[in-house]
Amino acid sequence: MCGIVGYVGHRDVVSVLFSGLTNLEYRGYDSAGIALNDKGDIKIYKTLGKLINLKNELTERKSELIQPTSGIGHIRWATHGSPSLINAHPHTCTCGKLVVVHNGIIENYKELREELINKGCNFRSQTDTETIAHLIADEYSKTKKLEEAVRNSVKKLQGAYAICVMHKDEPDVVVGARKHAPMLVGVGEGENFIASDTPAIIEYTKKTIYLDDNEVAVITKDKIKITDINGNEVVKKVEILPWEPIALSKLGYKHFMLKEIHEQPDVIRNVLNGKLYDIDAPIALNEVKIDKDTLKKLIKIEIIACGTSLHAALVGKYIIEDFAGISVEVEASSEYIYRKTTTDSSTLVIGVSQSGETADTITAIKQAKEKNAHVLIITNRPDSNMARLADSLIPVNAGIEVSVAATKSYTAQLISFYLLAIHLAEIKGGLDKSYLKNLKHELIQLPTKIEEVLSNTSAIQECARKFSSFKNFIYIARGVNLATAFEGALKLKEISYINATGYAAGELKHGPIAMLDETMPVLSILIPGGISYEKILSNCEEAKARNAKLIALTSSTDSNLDSLFDVVLRIPPVSEILSPAITCVPLQLLAYYIAEFLGKDVDQPRNLAKSVTVE
Ligand code: F6R
Repeated sequence: MCGIVGYVGHRDVVSVLFSGLTNLEYRGYDSAGIALNDKGDIKIYKTLGKLINLKNELTERKSELIQPTSGIGHIRWATHGSPSLINAHPHTCTCGKLVVVHNGIIENYKELREELINKGCNFRSQTDTETIAHLIADEYSKTKKLEEAVRNSVKKLQGAYAICVMHKDEPDVVVGARKHAPMLVGVGEGENFIASDTPAIIEYTKKTIYLDDNEVAVITKDKIKITDINGNEVVKKVEILPWEPIALSKLGYKHFMLKEIHEQPDVIRNVLNGKLYDIDAPIALNEVKIDKDTLKKLIKIEIIACGTSLHAALVGKYIIEDFAGISVEVEASSEYIYRKTTTDSSTLVIGVSQSGETADTITAIKQAKEKNAHVLIITNRPDSNMARLADSLIPVNAGIEVSVAATKSYTAQLISFYLLAIHLAEIKGGLDKSYLKNLKHELIQLPTKIEEVLSNTSAIQECARKFSSFKNFIYIARGVNLATAFEGALKLKEISYINATGYAAGELKHGPIAMLDETMPVLSILIPGGISYEKILSNCEEAKARNAKLIALTSSTDSNLDSLFDVVLRIPPVSEILSPAITCVPLQLLAYYIAEFLGKDVDQPRNLAKSVTVE
């Protein structure tokens, strides 16, 4: 997970590296570091914690610099070795002439380290990355050519890497290489860039070349050369980024998370655009590249995902089974990859991922492909590794999500699942026509209803203030909103560090009820008119009888709820089956305001990173 940037060009190198790293800070923030090639000298600066510490350090030590013309930078999410100055990147070889930054995990680093120690290399850190620095330096001593030394070295690495390398004796050359970790080249005029992700370069150029596994990029200010691992030049397509730097601005909101929560109505309109335009017309989901006859006979779907995307997958399972009658299994990618699955060529495997870079999901997808399953990817990053593995691709078009806690990408995934489930139902032909029409009509109404929730958040803020001192929460729901309970609890955990757990309401009495007393608030999701309302109400009564404080999230207007519950958060009327697309919003806001009251770092919660590129 770590973010890397490399730059050669005419601009102020320190500013370019800082601007790039700032926009990659969602990838990690345990420590930060840069190496500069300054008039033939390699100068390295590192600090612990967030990038701001490094910026302050550089401001104080600016007079040490003459005129750097190239540099590499890194922000770390620790894997091997604790977050410490010695483990912070860039790492160097023994003589200090070669510097490396790295994202990924080198699996055979222990063997390599031992070989290199025997050759006299002096290791200082506990990281796997330092091995790469010594390894390339060892090859450089033979070839005296950085590009070749990098190629020869990466052939010996097992695992995942995206690296940027510089050498004192080749000023103004930055070499990048990748395998199983994202890396791209930004194409400029009189300058070129290497980075983990597009936000790092958008301020300077929209022209991008995505590197593939086992490719090596060599950039100078005027030239970009890309080769395969054997040195054969590869001709790559230059793509133009379809978004503006303004997407990386908070636009007056205090945090990116709050801005992204408020973007959800437009995100939903975007997802529906061109796919659901007329309630009498079938859903236009041309992205699913499976012929209708095969889809008609489809009997098994597996959905693999992690975290918040896994919760979207649970809603997906519920509605695909409900609308289309196809059996769906949902599994965490990290579990799927370590067992004998029954995936085969007749299975549709759906991978869901906001980032498209989650290592566990990528591995799971590759395993499914080896079993000849058709792989459909639902992602917010159509430029990602996962998207490139897809047989079918549904881009969710939520726009760049900067806050580490996923919000708008989740609703976009949900809406994509609704479209897919209706599409499958229309092909299978099992759903009543007027029911389908109502469903589509209500889907189109969703953005307006969410706007209503967002236009008055005072009750949610009040609830957050009232409950922000509690140390534990239980979220309960049944049916299609069970995943919402999981997701609401996850949001609270992630950004406020409060212990919150989602349970099926009916399971409460089978164990968790033992924890209930006045210190354990129970938040329940109650949507009348469906199959679960009355049952959940009874579960709430049971909790009340154990002195638990009760919070209701409901579309009911029943005033009796106000006497049973300590707080009632109301949302506009919505059918139970579509309600997860609305119920998630007040829960995102509740988590946001609690974290805000507690003074937490909402956009960059501790220990997390937005893109989890390690298994
Ligand atoms: C939570 C969150 C994570 C991710 C998970 C999977 O707010 O963002 O739980 O959902 O790490 O990431 P993606 O969706 O990028 O595969």
